[in-house]
Amino acid sequence: MIRANDNYNKLKASYLFSDIAKKVDEYQQKNPGAQIIRLGIGDVTRALVPAVIKGFHQGVDEMANDATFRGYGPEQGYDFLRQTIAKNDFQDRGADISADEIFVSDGAKCDTGNFQELFATDIKLAIPDPVYPVYLDTNVMAGRTGEFEDGRYNGIVYMDCLKENNFLPRLPDESVDLIYLCFPNNPTGSTATKAELKVWVDYAKENKALILFDAAYEAFIREETLPRSIYEIEGAKEVAVEFRSFSKTAGFTGTRCGFTVVPKECMVFNSKGEKISLHAMWNRRHTTKFNGVSYPVQKAAQAVYSEEGKVQVKQQIDDYMNNADIIRKTVASLGFDYVGGKNSPYIWVDAKDRDSWDFFDLLLTKAGVVCTPGAGFGKCGRQYIRISAFNSLENVILAMDKLKEALTGRSSAK
Ligand code: MLT
Repeated sequence: MIRANDNYNKLKASYLFSDIAKKVDEYQQKNPGAQIIRLGIGDVTRALVPAVIKGFHQGVDEMANDATFRGYGPEQGYDFLRQTIAKNDFQDRGADISADEIFVSDGAKCDTGNFQELFATDIKLAIPDPVYPVYLDTNVMAGRTGEFEDGRYNGIVYMDCLKENNFLPRLPDESVDLIYLCFPNNPTGSTATKAELKVWVDYAKENKALILFDAAYEAFIREETLPRSIYEIEGAKEVAVEFRSFSKTAGFTGTRCGFTVVPKECMVFNSKGEKISLHAMWNRRHTTKFNGVSYPVQKAAQAVYSEEGKVQVKQQIDDYMNNADIIRKTVASLGFDYVGGKNSPYIWVDAKDRDSWDFFDLLLTKAGVVCTPGAGFGKCGRQYIRISAFNSLENVILAMDKLKEALTGRSSAK
């Protein structure tokens, strides 16, 4: 008899964003005429920029010719891309990361989900609440938690991110081994300064812990003093792995490309207490389970860093951030407290004691606007919703107008 992994029974039946998509589809089927504007899942809406398309085409053209055709590439990514990333994203910002510490992949969702495989099942995990569900769900699947009770899994150290602490996780009271951090944060959009990150790096060093740092939204940082990488913090190379993505930075949600930085200094310990290289472990895992990102996609990713690519990608991000400004101003004008939207495409709105799913339903049915209910990100999100800035300017203006009308009965449309 083939037995199932019982840990899957502990999970909610479906993944948050699949749940929302299903609800929206059902509503659309019942109301075929209703106009729906999606500010829920953080999926980009703008086309890949011309420089990226040019890189992509070059890659495709090379595949069309025997002389330049490529079969299997290096699993860790082509050197041209790893060198470009190491220089632009790290070395030019004073972070000493080398090309061979970069592992190119098909995105940060897979990497943040897969990385936990390298650790023992009985390690102690610290996870923020609210949180991107992938970190938690993949640890549930791996058996690192107990049952789900009253909105939380037993056995996890949750770090509440609330208004009272500026939506920043605080050091846990008990000693933990693995810490998930994400800045700019998904879902709250909050950011951490260098001094705030240093506290975590120091903690990890003192406690022989490891930080998994998700920086998928770093391109949205507007305040120059904020760190874009954890490696801008002294000592982080010994205790942190960083995840990056081209999805939101350059519109690659459908193209798929990201990377993970595993510094050679990062060590874990075997059951005898001996040091093991995390870089060697991830390399072993990556080369065994992954055959590399397609060559044209890596050419397209490299083009993100070309002179034209940088300008064009920045313009798109500025446009999304202009949407974020409009959303922030609208929710503030309606009397809601919020965080985020200043260095992040997400605005985390306090639903004023409303249940987040009820508020989601209200916005969908009364305004035709899809948001993400905060409860999907954890117990601390039960009275929040997340609004994403990823849509066209026209749609965001229309959505905000519909939101105002639904909540106040007044419209600003002429
Ligand atoms: C989100 O909306 O949180 C993201 O789009 C999910 C993801 O990047 O996988």
